[in-house]
Amino acid sequence: MNAPLDDIDRIMSVMERAFPAEFGEAWNRRQVIEALLVGNCRYGLIGADGDDQIPSGQDTAGFFMSRVVLDEEELLLFAIVPEHRRKGLGHQLLSRFLETAKQSGMSRVFLEMRKGNPAAILYAAHGFIQIGTRPSYYRTPDGNRIDAISQELSF
Ligand SMILES: CC(C)(COP(=O)(O)OP(=O)(O)OC[C@H]1O[C@@H](n2cnc3c(N)ncnc32)[C@H](O)[C@@H]1OP(=O)(O)O)[C@@H](O)C(=O)NCCC(=O)NCCS
Repeated sequence: MNAPLDDIDRIMSVMERAFPAEFGEAWNRRQVIEALLVGNCRYGLIGADGDDQIPSGQDTAGFFMSRVVLDEEELLLFAIVPEHRRKGLGHQLLSRFLETAKQSGMSRVFLEMRKGNPAAILYAAHGFIQIGTRPSYYRTPDGNRIDAISQELSF
């Protein structure tokens, strides 16, 4: 999938605000563009009103990016900006991601996240189950190690 430049801007505006700097999880613009150029990545946007179309000039509240390999889809990035959290937008965006995955014939979706991320509560509410742990998998910018948790949901 390719993306219009406006959508890259929308993704980056969320990326720069949503991911805590101490974990070094945010991607830079080049990484996003390269991933979307490969062709097997998808993305979705959400506005403050829950809409997936963001009129120009209106703030983007969140986005996801995912990668499809055969009939499996990996959720690579998922974020809502701090000022729009705890209003159900994460639920809405995740439901939309899962619905699109199901409709396009995926048999399974999976993700990897750092241990202790409260996003686990959201994923569990949608049926994700933990399938593994990679001890000390992530290294933060200040050199700390954090376990990675793998989660999946089969359709
Ligand atoms: C995780 C994230 C996307 C949740 O977005 P959100 O819009 O706040 O999600 P929702 O409002 O739909 O909340 C859904 C539920 O998740 C749980 N939840 C979300 N954030 C939580 C937090 N900080 N602490 C505890 N529970 C939390 C709650 O059960 C919440 O329901 P409730 O508000 O009714 O209690 C958002 O916090 C975020 O962008 N975090 C930074 C980026 C990130 O870590 N992404 C995940 C990468 S794996």
